[in-house]
Amino acid sequence: MNTPKRADARQGGVPEGGGTARAYTLHAVQAVQTEPRFEFVGGSATGDRRARMAREVIAGLSRRPRSIPPKYFYDERGSRLFDAICDLPEYYLTRAEQALLQAHAGGIVQRSGARCLVEIGSGMARKTGSLLRAISARTLSPVYVPFDIAPEPIRESARGLLAAHPTLRVRGIVGDFAHECVRLSRGLSESDGPTLFAFLGSTIGNLDEAEAPSLLRTIASLMKRRDRFLVGIDLVKDPRIIARAYNDDQGVTAAFNKNVLSVLARELDGHLDENAFDHLALYDEARERVEMHLVSLRQQPLTLCSGDVRIELAEGERVMTEISRKFTEESARHMLSEGGMTMLEWLSTPEQLFALCVAERTA
Ligand SMILES: C[S@@+](CC[C@H](N)C(=O)[O-])C[C@H]1O[C@@H](n2cnc3c(N)ncnc32)[C@H](O)[C@@H]1O
Repeated sequence: MNTPKRADARQGGVPEGGGTARAYTLHAVQAVQTEPRFEFVGGSATGDRRARMAREVIAGLSRRPRSIPPKYFYDERGSRLFDAICDLPEYYLTRAEQALLQAHAGGIVQRSGARCLVEIGSGMARKTGSLLRAISARTLSPVYVPFDIAPEPIRESARGLLAAHPTLRVRGIVGDFAHECVRLSRGLSESDGPTLFAFLGSTIGNLDEAEAPSLLRTIASLMKRRDRFLVGIDLVKDPRIIARAYNDDQGVTAAFNKNVLSVLARELDGHLDENAFDHLALYDEARERVEMHLVSLRQQPLTLCSGDVRIELAEGERVMTEISRKFTEESARHMLSEGGMTMLEWLSTPEQLFALCVAERTA
C-alpha cells in the first residue's frame, strides 16, 4: 500500500494550527491523492477459512454440551439479519449505545487525540458515523480500518462513510479476531497518528472468561502508548428486559440464530433442516449471560462434509450458538485489567442499560 510517512504524528499528535497545520494540510492532500480511498488490505484465503470452520464446528458439535462458534452467524444474510435486530423495539442495546456515542464521541475523540479509527467486528458500522465525524473535525485525512469476519458489510458500510467524509480513507481487513488480529498491522501506519480501537455492539459479551482477556491482550499489544480502546458493554439489569431483547415478537433473532444452519449447509456441505430446530434464548442470572441455543425438535442426524461427519442429535437436545455476557462497572474493569488494559472512563446511560468504556494499554 502506498502510504505516505508522517513519523511525528503518532508520537506527538500534530496540533492543527500555525505552520504545522499548513504542512499537515499539504500532507493530507498528498495522502488522499496517493492512496486509494477504499481497499481491502488483508483477508483470508477461502480454503483456509473453510478448513478452520470445519475444524471448529466439528469440535464444537462433538463436545458436550454441543456448540457452534457465534462468528459463523455472519455471512451476508446473517449480517443483514443482525442489522435488522438492531432496529427491533426489544433490542435496546443499539439505541442505548448510539445515544452514548452521540453524546460522548466528540469528547472521547478529543481526549484521545485520535486521527485513525480501527473498528473490530465493525459489521454494518451503524454507529461509526459519530466517531468519524469527531475524527474528521480534527484532521483532514481521517483513516478508518474496519475489521470483520464478513467482507460484505465492510464493503457496504464503506460506501456510505466515504460519501459522508470526502477525505476519508478506508482500509478494510477481513479476518477472525480470535486468530488474525495481527492483520490489523497491515491497516495501520505510523503516519496515521493516534488511533482509537473500537469494539462496539457488546460483541465483547460473546467471548467467554478466557476468550475476552485473550483478545484484549492482543489488541493491547497492537496499541501505542497514546492509543485508546473504546468498548461497548451491555449491563446487568432486570432479567426481563434482557430476555426480551433476544426473543423478539417478529422472530428476527430466531431467523438469525437459524441462519447458522444454512451457513454450515453451504460452506461445509451440510445436510441440515432449519425447520427441525427451534430458537431458544435464556438469561442465566447467576452467570450474568444470555445463552442462545438451537433445539433439535426431533431425533435427527446432522451431517457435514458431504456425509463424512455425522452427529446424532436427540429430540430436545440443545446446541449452544452464542453467549452474551452482561457486566457491571466492576466486572468490566476486572476483564480489562486481565486483558492488559486500564479503564479510564465509564460512561453509562441514565437507566444503566449500556455503557461505553475507554481504556488504555496498561504500561
Ligand atoms: C454483534 S455484531 C456487532 C456489529 C457492529 N459492531 C455493531 O455494533 O452494530 C458482531 C460483529 O462482529 C463480527 N464478528 C463476530 N465474530 C468475529 C470474529 N471472530 N472475527 C471478526 N469479526 C467477527 C460479526 O461479523 C459482526 O459484524
